[in-house]
Amino acid sequence: MTIHKITPDQLRSRDWFDNPEHPGTTALCIERYMNYGMTLEELTSGRPIIGIAQSGSDLTPCNRHHVELVKRVKDGIRAAGGVPFEFPLHPIHENVRRPTAALDRNLAYLGLVEVLHGYPLDGVVLTTGCDKTTPACLMAAATVNIPAIVLSGGPMLNGWHGAERVGSGTIVWEMRKRLAAGDIDYPDFLSRIAESAPSVGHCNTMGTASTMNSMAEALGMSLPGSAMIPGPYKERAMVAYQTGERVVDMVWEDLRPSDILTREAFENAIVTCSALGGSSNAPVHVNAIARHAGVALDNDDWQRLGHAVPLLANVMPAGAYLGEEFHRAGGVPAVIAELLSNDLIHGDALTANGRSLADNVAGRETQDTEVIRRFDNSLVEKAGFLNLKGNLFDSALMKTSVISTDFRRRFLEDPDDPEAFEGKVVVFDGSEDYHARIDDPALGIDERTILVMRGAGPVGHPGGAEVVNMQPPAALIRQGIESLPCLGDGRQSGTSGSPSILNASPEAATGGPLALLETGDRLRVDLGRGEVTLQVDESELAKRRERLEAAGGYDFPAHQTPWQEIQRTLVEPLADGMTLRGAPGYRDVARL
Ligand code: FES
Ligand code: MG
Repeated sequence: MTIHKITPDQLRSRDWFDNPEHPGTTALCIERYMNYGMTLEELTSGRPIIGIAQSGSDLTPCNRHHVELVKRVKDGIRAAGGVPFEFPLHPIHENVRRPTAALDRNLAYLGLVEVLHGYPLDGVVLTTGCDKTTPACLMAAATVNIPAIVLSGGPMLNGWHGAERVGSGTIVWEMRKRLAAGDIDYPDFLSRIAESAPSVGHCNTMGTASTMNSMAEALGMSLPGSAMIPGPYKERAMVAYQTGERVVDMVWEDLRPSDILTREAFENAIVTCSALGGSSNAPVHVNAIARHAGVALDNDDWQRLGHAVPLLANVMPAGAYLGEEFHRAGGVPAVIAELLSNDLIHGDALTANGRSLADNVAGRETQDTEVIRRFDNSLVEKAGFLNLKGNLFDSALMKTSVISTDFRRRFLEDPDDPEAFEGKVVVFDGSEDYHARIDDPALGIDERTILVMRGAGPVGHPGGAEVVNMQPPAALIRQGIESLPCLGDGRQSGTSGSPSILNASPEAATGGPLALLETGDRLRVDLGRGEVTLQVDESELAKRRERLEAAGGYDFPAHQTPWQEIQRTLVEPLADGMTLRGAPGYRDVARL
C-alpha cells in the first residue's frame, strides 16, 4: 500500500500545469503538450508527471533496446496513475566516442540536471547501461533530488567461440596479444571479437557497465535483482514495467535520492564492488555520485572498506563466467546476501522499493556456488583496491585480485621482500607515443621494466584515456612475457584484467610529479606499505621542475571542441571523481 506523504496539489508539476497566479504561462505549458494529443485531464488532474531519461539511440547500441523497453516502463507508469514523458539523454557510447566516452559523463550530467530542473517532472526513470550512462544519471538525480529510479538495460547474452565463453572487452585484450604475436590475422581477430556481442545489451563481463548498474542496485537506486537481468530476457521487460509502476509510488511517498544515497549506501556499494571484482572505473564514478549527494567518500574509504573483501562473483575479467550465469546464480542480491551474512553490509539502508536492503535480499542466497561463491570458497581473498601513495602522486588505485600467478612469480616472490618490486621505467606521453615506440628495441624494455603512461588524465587527454594497461613489446610476448607492471595517470577499461596502477592523481598535465619522470628512472612499488617511490633525489627533481616550468609546463594536445576546453578548465582529479569544480555544491535544486 502506498503511503501518501504528498497530496496532488503538492506535485512539482502543478507549478507548470495548474498555477492560477500565472494563467498565461500555465496555458502556454498546457497547449503545447496538447498539440500532440495529451488531454487536459492528463496534465491538470493531479497525476504525477514522470520523466523517462532515454539513453538508447542508434548511436548508443549498448542501450538501444531501451527504445523498446521504455514502452513497458510507460505501461507501468500509466497503470500506477502517472503520465510518462520520454526525453533523450546525451548519447554516451563507450568504445566509439572519441576522444573518449568519459568526456561526456559530465556533459550528460549537466544536460540531465537542466532537464530535471527546468521541466514539469515529479519523478524520473533513469535508463542506463553502457559505462558512463549510469553515473551521469545518478549524479544528476543526486543534484536535483526528485524521486528517481534506475532501469538498467542489462548485459548482452553470453558470447561463444565453439564451447568457449567469449566476454566483451576481455576478448579484445587477449586477441590483441595474439594479433601482435602473429598467431592470428585481422579477419580472425575481428570475427573472434564479434562473437562476444551476440545480442542487445551492454558488455556481458563485469566491466564498467555491469559494475555501475550493480552499484546502482547496491546503492538502493533500482529494484532488487534488476541490474543484471540480460537485455533480451523477458524478465527485463517485466522489471521495466515494475520500475514504471514503482516510480509513481515513490513520488507519492516523496522518496528522494537524498533518502537513499546515504553514507551507509555508499559503504555498501564499495563492499559489493569488491565482491563482484568490479571495474577500476567504479571508484571514480561512485566517488562522483557521493560528492553530488553530499557524502564525503574517497579512495582511502575504498581501501579501508573494500580491499579485504573476498571475490565472490566468478565473472570475467576476474573470473570465468558471464552475465547470464551470474543472473541465474542470483545476481547482485545473492552477492549482497552473502556479504550481509558476514556482517559487511548495512542491512537497514533504504532502497527504491521503500524497503531495506536486508529485506530485499532475504532468502535470495546463491543458486550456484560455482558462479556466486560463499565466503568459505571465495575466488580471491582480497578483491578490492589498494590506494597507493608516494612521491609521484597522492592517490593511485590497484586491483590486486587480478595479479596473475606468472606476474606474482616474476615480481612479488622475492622471499626477502614478498610484496615489493623495483624496476626501471620507460615513459610514454599519451597512447600515440606508446603505439609509435613500444616495439623500438632502443628502449631496452625487458621483463623487469615498468611501463608508465602519462598525459592520459582528464586534462591531458580530455576525459581521461583508458590506456594504462599497456601490452609489452611483441618481441617479449613471443618469449612468453604477457604482462609488465604499468602505471599511469589515465584509466583502464573495466573489462581488462591487467594489474595496473591507475588513475594517478594529480595528473602530469596539472603539474603532478609524474611530469618529472624520465625513462631510466627507478621506481619501487611496495604493495605491503601501499607506496610507490621514485628513487631520484630531491635536488634532481627540483632541477627538472625548473626546466619543466621554464618550458611552460607539461604539454598536451590542443582543445578540439568548446566542451573539451570547458571540461579541462573545470575538471577535478580522478581521485575526486572527475567532477566539475563547483558542481557538487548544487544540491536539492528541484524546488524552483
Ligand atoms: Fe557499452 Fe561496454 S561498450 S557497455
Ligand atoms: Mg570502459
